Amino acid sequence: MRRFSAEYLERTREGMWADSREALADLDLSDRTRILDVGCGTGELTRVLAEESTAEVVGCDADRELLAVASAHVPAVAGDAFRLPFATDSFDLVVCQALLINLPDPAAALEEFARVSSALVAAVEPNNAAVDVDSTVSAEVDLETRVREAYLRGVETDVALGDRVESLFEESGIEVISTHRYDHEKRTEPPYSEAALTDAARKASGAGLADHEMELRRGMEGQESTYDDLRREWREMGRTVVDEMQAGDYERVEHVPFDVTVGRVETSAASSNDS
Ligand SMILES: C[S@@+](CC[C@H](N)C(=O)[O-])C[C@H]1O[C@@H](n2cnc3c(N)ncnc32)[C@H](O)[C@@H]1O
Repeated sequence: MRRFSAEYLERTREGMWADSREALADLDLSDRTRILDVGCGTGELTRVLAEESTAEVVGCDADRELLAVASAHVPAVAGDAFRLPFATDSFDLVVCQALLINLPDPAAALEEFARVSSALVAAVEPNNAAVDVDSTVSAEVDLETRVREAYLRGVETDVALGDRVESLFEESGIEVISTHRYDHEKRTEPPYSEAALTDAARKASGAGLADHEMELRRGMEGQESTYDDLRREWREMGRTVVDEMQAGDYERVEHVPFDVTVGRVETSAASSNDS
């Protein structure tokens, strides 16, 4: 299982759902009574669900360190997405955000979501192949493209699932009700936040790249430049970012498209009546 640090999740989700929650409308949050967020990590989406609903909202993740952070905000339970520690039909919405892209068999997890839900299943999944970056440091745009391409080649799960989640729902026997696009815009401009300063320092030190070293090395096998070449260029770019920030000139904008897919399950009561 690919692991994520609490710091990484909090940083990458900063501001997500702060601008608009329209793409979550078909989750019918105001009418839910029990909601499960699978692969909740530090509980970034779980907290949004709890804000938007009077339902009991529970987070679940396989990583106990992340759960410790999530449980400061919402009830959170340790569990595996392929074998959820909950009874059949015990929630009326089972949802995940950026979980399916990290699983070796996302359709099997969706089947497990459908077992545990009596009504709705939803997935909020990014298309990492369609991320768009613009920056006042031109080398940053080129390097981010090279890093993203190497990462996509080197990673072992489908991190660019995006709009293909719909066919996974159908494959798992979940009837798709709707799909909506949420565009997560991350903007860096003066005055710089603490998180933006940390991000720039991580670029200059190469720490940001090191988070994905294994996938990048794998994705660069047989390529002309190596991970170490890339890391050198990346750190140099990071130092330029730091310099521009000190002068107050640095600006960057990133768009990460997320697809929100909502489906309805056939309840076990309905299926046994049918048989
Ligand atoms: C990219 S993070 C997303 C976290 C959170 N949903 C968010 O959007 O910030 C993926 C999460 O899935 C969890 N995860 C990965 N495989 C899992 C599995 N088999 N069962 C439960 N959780 C899993 C990881 O521990 C991590 O917290």
